[in-house]
Amino acid sequence: MSDRIWMSPSILSADFGSLAASITAVEAAGADMLHVDVMDGHFVPNLTIGPPVVKALKRVTGLPLDVHLMIDNADATLDWYLDAGADWVTVHVEAVTDVPGVLTRIREAGAKPGLTLNPATPVEAMAPYLTMVDLLLVMSVNPGFGGQSFMPGSIMKVDRLAFMCAEAGVSPLIQVDGGINEMTAVEVAKAGARALVAGNAVFCEPDPGAAMERIRAAAAAAI
Ligand code: DX5
Ligand code: ZN
Repeated sequence: MSDRIWMSPSILSADFGSLAASITAVEAAGADMLHVDVMDGHFVPNLTIGPPVVKALKRVTGLPLDVHLMIDNADATLDWYLDAGADWVTVHVEAVTDVPGVLTRIREAGAKPGLTLNPATPVEAMAPYLTMVDLLLVMSVNPGFGGQSFMPGSIMKVDRLAFMCAEAGVSPLIQVDGGINEMTAVEVAKAGARALVAGNAVFCEPDPGAAMERIRAAAAAAI
């Protein structure tokens, strides 16, 4: 298991009117990747951004784009995001028809495959795919909106997933997304998370870069 904490600030909570400036701030502060929440208004009740924006982000940052697809049937539109420059692509086990096929396509395109699940889905749903992914994301809110409260049940899911990965002899990055702040980061890091997504707790703070580094420091001190 990696002994460092990867920070992936979620631009969903940034000012969409000045995205480039928001991104520059977290990039300068040492972000490891940039979390891009793609929502389709079907799989989740919100509608956010699509491939043209992913493509535009690629032009304004050198950070790897950590693209979280909250969309129905990613099987059909996956290539749009790969072509737009996604570096990591995470799909929902609930929303993809051919999970191994999609994970393979992501890897063959030169990107890093990730798999995630909703709070109501047991981590066992990921068991068949542990050897196929570089990242496993535990959602700690119901996907759809930034600024929701962390669901404590996700701590046990991270713990269980870390155990399952150790048993399988694999070590994908375990990421947590939803309600992450300086306090919840400690709990999930102790349970085995090594990558943290944070939206509100970064971009709704006066100094987003410093806020991001406080979360990383809190988590790192706990492992
Ligand atoms: C929720 C998104 C998250 C969201 C996190 O559906 O997947 O990435 O931006 O935002 P916070 O950190 O504010 O919960
Ligand atoms: Zn997300």
